[in-house]
Amino acid sequence: MNIPSHSKWWQKTVVYQIYPRSFKDSTGNGIGDLKGIISKIDYLERLGVETIWFSPFFTSPQEDHGYDVEDYRNIDPEYGTMKDFEELIKNLHEKDMKIVLDLVLNHTSSKHPWFIESASSKDNPKRDWYIWRDGKESLGKKPPNNWKSMTGGLAWKYFENTDQWVYFHFLPFQPDLNYRNPEVKKEMLDTCRFWLDKGVDGFRLDIFHTIYEREDLRDNPFILQLFPSDDKEASFFQNHVYDVHLPETIDFAIDLRNLIDEYSNPDRFLVGELSGNIDILKKYYGSENNGLNLVFLFQFTSKPFNAEEFEQVLRDIEQKFPYPYTPTYVLGNHDRMRYISRFGNKTVKARILATLQLTLRGVPFIYYGEEIGMENVKFKLSESEDPIGRKFWWLPISQIKKMGISLTRDGCRTPMQWDDSPHAGFTPNENAEPWLRIPKNYKQINVINAENNPESLLNCYKRLLDIRKNNTALQMGSLDFIDLKRENKGCLAYQRLFQKQKITIYLNFTKKKKTIEFPYDNFELVFSTTPNRAKLKSNNQNKYFKLKGFEGVIIKIK
Ligand code: GLC
Repeated sequence: MNIPSHSKWWQKTVVYQIYPRSFKDSTGNGIGDLKGIISKIDYLERLGVETIWFSPFFTSPQEDHGYDVEDYRNIDPEYGTMKDFEELIKNLHEKDMKIVLDLVLNHTSSKHPWFIESASSKDNPKRDWYIWRDGKESLGKKPPNNWKSMTGGLAWKYFENTDQWVYFHFLPFQPDLNYRNPEVKKEMLDTCRFWLDKGVDGFRLDIFHTIYEREDLRDNPFILQLFPSDDKEASFFQNHVYDVHLPETIDFAIDLRNLIDEYSNPDRFLVGELSGNIDILKKYYGSENNGLNLVFLFQFTSKPFNAEEFEQVLRDIEQKFPYPYTPTYVLGNHDRMRYISRFGNKTVKARILATLQLTLRGVPFIYYGEEIGMENVKFKLSESEDPIGRKFWWLPISQIKKMGISLTRDGCRTPMQWDDSPHAGFTPNENAEPWLRIPKNYKQINVINAENNPESLLNCYKRLLDIRKNNTALQMGSLDFIDLKRENKGCLAYQRLFQKQKITIYLNFTKKKKTIEFPYDNFELVFSTTPNRAKLKSNNQNKYFKLKGFEGVIIKIK
């Protein structure tokens, strides 16, 4: 593989996602805010992450906690002011960190002034900013077609005043913008420019595959699939053929890329949130790599703790995204169950997956709290802050558990656990009620405890981040799988190579000790997930070494 000796900063970076509502409250109202985040930049610096992605903090009624925007060019007063934002970006840049904003281009809040105008009458100048259609029968009895929303149920909402329906792909209070209207497209491109001019280094693009839909509104076909998966966007017995992944959306990705490429020093980048199989996702990079710079690869988030399953995903991705494609590995985010909880809240397993994520090719995305092993918290659907959870309040929890999914996203969004003081140090006000309940385990699982314990998961993350930063082979080297013997079932091994630097990684996903073939004489053990592992004794004569149960190691070959 021909890898150039230098690459763009964003191809080598590690991204840390902050959910602003839950990171740090500075005012004492139980809701995180920008000033709170600013007060924790030192922590981010100590951790060693380089790029910070913020879930939306734009003005919003917060019905979907910011993914329902009311003003794209302002900060929600709950989170602070534009001045706070400017201070945030300045402080991050001063520490050599980059900032990524979350753009919800597909839809606005139904409380956005554009929508209020648009809904007011058929001849309002903003009418065509959204997708309005007549129903199939008079009096709006039937929606314009059979399209279902991503969250189940009709994708159309009826408005009596104009006797028309409006289209929404996600939730009814998030009407889709009409990108076939050039004014809309221009407005949103100008919005990107507005933030780029303020020095923002990149954008995460929310449900990007849903930007355009077929104008002729053809009915989608039936399919036998209830819940969406990362490989297939079909859901609720409907195959989304005509409402997502349109060629026009890929053209729009290219428009966005052209726009960000006007900026340099530093370069900017785009990362898309899309659902679909790997072949579909790849199209968004553009036929000449002139589309999105990155797309999230969520495959890890649904795999069991099994080396062979992870390897299969990786082989597939490596084959389909060779250099110059940059894969983007995710273990969790604000929509998914915390990964440590998918594996019984076992830190040994988290260490293996952190080692995997931070030694692969491409850009790793860490979700706040993962580094200290924050666990998914149980919430009743009926008390859900998350609108998705409330939508499914009637489903019996036992049924949901059987399906292995988590319907309220509150569980992965609880406040950051900073210390063992009341409310885990999240809010300075003892009498405040944090917007989401903090689990009792904060007395043990918190940043201060973790920083003080050399063997903590946090220190494992710090070490890995440091090793990645100081070894070009890990940041941008090629990746080749190492074939292991049959007795090594349950292990995964690969090597990263850049010019003369060669680094090998061995991960044991089982609790059994493994004897690993190792043909090298001259090497250095740079990292082990096992705290205090003294040395890696390689038996030179027989050329093997012992890998402990649930151990991952990084070895530099000299
Ligand atoms: C994305 C976001 C999610 C949000 C949805 C609608 O999937 O990650 O949190 O609810 O889009 O904007």
